[in-house]
Amino acid sequence: RPDNYVRLVEVGPRDGLQNEKKSIPFETKIELIERLAKTGVSYIEAGSFVSPKWVPQMDNSGKIMEHILTKKIASPTPITYSFLAPNAKGVENASALLQQHQDSFLTQTQAQVGLDTTGKPSIELAVFAAATESFSKKNLNCDIATSLERFKPVIQGAKELGVRARAYISVVLGCPFEGYDVDPHKVAEIAASLLEMGADEISLGDTTGMGTAPRTQELLRCMNAAGIRNEDIAMHFHDTYGQALVNTAVSLERGIRIFDSSVGGLGGCPYSPGATGNVATENMVYFLETLGMDSGIDLDAMADIGQWITAEIGKPNDSAVGKAVLGA
Ligand code: HMG
Ligand code: MG
Repeated sequence: RPDNYVRLVEVGPRDGLQNEKKSIPFETKIELIERLAKTGVSYIEAGSFVSPKWVPQMDNSGKIMEHILTKKIASPTPITYSFLAPNAKGVENASALLQQHQDSFLTQTQAQVGLDTTGKPSIELAVFAAATESFSKKNLNCDIATSLERFKPVIQGAKELGVRARAYISVVLGCPFEGYDVDPHKVAEIAASLLEMGADEISLGDTTGMGTAPRTQELLRCMNAAGIRNEDIAMHFHDTYGQALVNTAVSLERGIRIFDSSVGGLGGCPYSPGATGNVATENMVYFLETLGMDSGIDLDAMADIGQWITAEIGKPNDSAVGKAVLGA
């Protein structure tokens, strides 16, 4: 990868769709994933092994994983497909499928040494912690310490399966229940525990979009001060207050090179009332291009997908760049 490469993790099929009330057909989800795979993106978050009682939209994630493992999805670059799995039940469901199709994906070691000439996908499982006790209780039904205990076997399970483990921390820059009162040192402490357990990467979630440039800077300063390396950090900005690109600029300046985004700006979190979507992937691709940085993603193709999927689910296209590029 070139020096100016920035990795974008496309979270549209999971974070983007999880909150939609109307059930989205399996075929539409697969079409979304297959179209995204052609744009040059290297990470796609494709589903979530969580309770269907709480997040019914993600109920067919097993079927989606099976499709990814058994049908060769065409893509110009190797792709890692990520799935949330926050507890033992989630990882059991994921691992049953992964074991059944164990020759259909690259292990982390195979992918690292560049054996990805077979066109096989890589898989990643992701846990999600919270930076505040109240959000942890709402989103995970337990306190932070208990959630960390529950993640240990999940991360361990991912390692045994030979797949990557990602760990989110939500509400790092503002909480729907505790406001701006989120301690960046606490975030760094949780991140350090998750890395210690074997997480390959920490994604810092600005779930509410309340993050500002100075607070983003301070958070990243605290992470580095706690000994956490920039290469182990991804930023996950929701754009509710329109600050996502500013916060991205600050993060880039501090050396972060991994960002989560969602095509068409799709999304929201069921446990964060009023939160809107992730920063739009089209906006990120364009912004990075203006800085001379390279995400490897075809902007026009991404803009087409944003226009298509938002129409498909009956939402306005939330990407200013996408609309401008299409003249829409
Ligand atoms: P629990 O402790 O078992 O408690 O699960 P529960 O009362 O919530 O469980 C309800 C039912 O779900 C039980 O079934 C469980 O067995 C079952 P019942 O006995 O009533 O028939 N269940 C499951 N079913 C399938 N797969 C599972 C699973 N786990 C339990 N994995 C838990 C606690 C948190 C796992 C559960 O409440 C849950 O899945 N909640 C949904 C949480 C969620 O998906 N949140 C959104 C994703 S996080 C996010 O969006 C933030 C992020 O984008 C970053 C950011 O922006 O900040 C990542
Ligand atoms: Mg999110």
